Amino acid sequence: MRLSLAYFSALLSIFSATYASPAADACTLTASGGDDAPKFLSAMKACSTVTVPKGTTLTIGTRLNMTGLSNKHLSVQGTIKFTPDIPYWTGNAFFIPFQTQVTFWLLGGKNIQVDGGGTLDGSGQVWYDAFATNSSLLRPIILTLFQASDVTVKNIKMINSPEWFNLINEGQNIVYDNLTIDARSTSKNDIKNTDGWNVYRSNNVTIKNSNINNGDDCVAFKPNATNVLISNLQCNGSHGISVGSLGQFPGMVDIVENVTSVNVRMSNAQNGARIKAWAGSNVGSGRVKNITFDHFVESKVNNPVVIDQCYMTSAADCAKFPSNVVIEDIWFNSISGTSSGPLVAALSCSPDGRCSDINVNDFTVVPPSGSAKFTCQNVNITGNAASKFPACTVTG
Ligand SMILES: *[C@@H]1O[C@H](CO)[C@@H](O)[C@H](O)[C@H]1NC(C)=O
Ligand SMILES: *[C@@H]1O[C@H](CO)[C@@H](O)[C@H](O)[C@H]1NC(C)=O
Ligand SMILES: *[C@@H]1O[C@H](CO)[C@@H](O)[C@H](O)[C@H]1NC(C)=O
Ligand SMILES: *[C@@H]1O[C@H](CO)[C@@H](O)[C@H](O)[C@H]1NC(C)=O
Ligand SMILES: *[C@@H]1O[C@H](CO)[C@@H](O)[C@H](O)[C@H]1NC(C)=O
Ligand SMILES: *[C@@H]1O[C@H](CO)[C@@H](O)[C@H](O)[C@H]1NC(C)=O
Ligand SMILES: *[C@@H]1O[C@H](CO)[C@@H](O)[C@H](O)[C@H]1NC(C)=O
Ligand SMILES: *[C@@H]1O[C@H](CO)[C@@H](O)[C@H](O)[C@H]1NC(C)=O
Ligand SMILES: *[C@@H]1O[C@H](CO)[C@@H](O)[C@H](O)[C@H]1NC(C)=O
Repeated sequence: MRLSLAYFSALLSIFSATYASPAADACTLTASGGDDAPKFLSAMKACSTVTVPKGTTLTIGTRLNMTGLSNKHLSVQGTIKFTPDIPYWTGNAFFIPFQTQVTFWLLGGKNIQVDGGGTLDGSGQVWYDAFATNSSLLRPIILTLFQASDVTVKNIKMINSPEWFNLINEGQNIVYDNLTIDARSTSKNDIKNTDGWNVYRSNNVTIKNSNINNGDDCVAFKPNATNVLISNLQCNGSHGISVGSLGQFPGMVDIVENVTSVNVRMSNAQNGARIKAWAGSNVGSGRVKNITFDHFVESKVNNPVVIDQCYMTSAADCAKFPSNVVIEDIWFNSISGTSSGPLVAALSCSPDGRCSDINVNDFTVVPPSGSAKFTCQNVNITGNAASKFPACTVTG
């Protein structure tokens, strides 16, 4: 009896020594009351699984450089909140040369999963208010995947980003699944430039099953976004699903190729499906090829489908210097719902045949009242809805 009890308690002590404290590579963070960035950074370096538990709000008051990680799981069950400290972030947020951006957080490396059902909070209101009186203020992106591959971000809510919510910069094999993105201003100042996602110099990216309420592009495909799939998004209040703008910078070659956007509900938006490329003197070049917009259901959208290949360029300059970003193999398939005014489609290419193989099928968008207006120029449209467009004037 004695012996077996001793044996039992010895067993118990081995058991508790092994299991009482969590495995060294699973770390759970607590809030310190001050800046939690340093311990968040060291946990992400040291531990393979990092948890922000439900009910915990980590305060991030200094920038997060989490590049070069491998095999990490970040479970955000609580909240990660960035401080509304404009003086600190101005000059300390990471600078991104592309379109003069800055970010709170660089996350990069290989094989990373972010999930957990929690929230990333950008404390955007102070930025919306400050930007209203100072348009040179650089406002941080919440999350930038930088040189990242095999990354999944899922089951996460992102609120009130000061500017873009997500940038994918030089990434590959990236999946976003089930995100809720929501920017709202409680003052009279707008939630300017709060793009949902920008995809830049990245290949093989999927964004799916997400709900976005924001004040700029829902998703934008920037230079060298290739092999991208967008599916099952609900976008509200946005500027649409946009390719571009491309070809802005002299000497640069911008390619957007193999992009499919399917099952998108677009409401209260400036645009539905859009492609924009610069023309004029002293700009860049490139190609937009094999882009499909399929099953868009639109509601109160100002410009339900758009090609603008004379973006930010006067008609006279566009005639003189047509765009060097060629647009080819484009499909607008099954676009339905309502516009906000008479215009339902505007497909406008540069003179001189810079667009080819432009297809419109099963197009049923109607204006709230009166007759629908379709415009097009310098483009031959094919597909079963091509007859809805008036004869396009070829000026080049
Ligand atoms: C981020 O940290 C890595 C090393 O961990 C360093 O090489 C890189 O320069 C840092 N990035 C920035 C933008 O500070
Ligand atoms: C506007 O923001 C810029 C960039 O942060 C800053 O240098 C400048 O001082 C600000 N201007 C005013 C009037 O606050
Ligand atoms: C989507 O994410 C939310 C948390 O933001 C979670 O509550 C919900 O269960 C997730 N949905 C699915 C289908 O996983
Ligand atoms: C694209 O990314 C997905 C998700 O990471 C991956 O499963 C797939 O193998 C990748 N495709 C290619 C061609 O690399
Ligand atoms: C959708 O956007 C409209 C216009 O921006 C806004 O008034 C409304 O509150 C938004 N709806 C939701 C559910 O976010
Ligand atoms: C895009 O890719 C092409 C071809 O690889 C390259 O020449 C060009 O410099 C890239 N452009 C950008 C903006 O990265
Ligand atoms: C067009 O892009 C899609 C992915 O969006 C891809 O599956 C398809 O093979 C591409 N087609 C061509 C002809 O390149
Ligand atoms: C587009 O997809 C086609 C077909 O899969 C492929 O041959 C081509 O290389 C892809 N283009 C890019 C830029 O990845
Ligand atoms: C439209 O097609 C005709 C006949 O193939 C061709 O001559 C013309 O250049 C095309 N126009 C444009 C703008 O591509």
